[in-house]
Amino acid sequence: MIGKLNHVGVATPSIDEAVKLYRDVLGATSIGEKFSMPEQGVWVCFVNLPNSQIELIEPYGEASPIHGFLAKNPSGGQHHVCFEVEDIIAARDDMRAKGATVLGTGEPRIGAHGTPVIFVHPKNMGGVLVELMETPKGAH
Ligand code: CO
Repeated sequence: MIGKLNHVGVATPSIDEAVKLYRDVLGATSIGEKFSMPEQGVWVCFVNLPNSQIELIEPYGEASPIHGFLAKNPSGGQHHVCFEVEDIIAARDDMRAKGATVLGTGEPRIGAHGTPVIFVHPKNMGGVLVELMETPKGAH
């Protein structure tokens, strides 16, 4: 039921520094502008790759959920993977029916691509925080 790998989320204490790594060391040629998502407590910047994206996330504000991750991983690290699904509500209900824990209220939020997303707890996903996002309409 999962579709494309949409992106890999990478937490970093500094998007500006991380962009230098992806651009200057790894040679990425298409990197978006950094933007804030205050409700989610993050700055976000997408590095575009031929087949996927890296989502760089930096804490925004004192209550950012990323602070805890960076406390354990001070130089940053891989934070989540995001798979596309056709229907986010159906995916959420399916995850719950299979015993997985959907984070928060379980109501989808609008993610960084402007489509609804949910997160599934790593304890049910082999230790990986999994984001499911509805495929943008008209994409692919
Ligand atoms: Co993400």
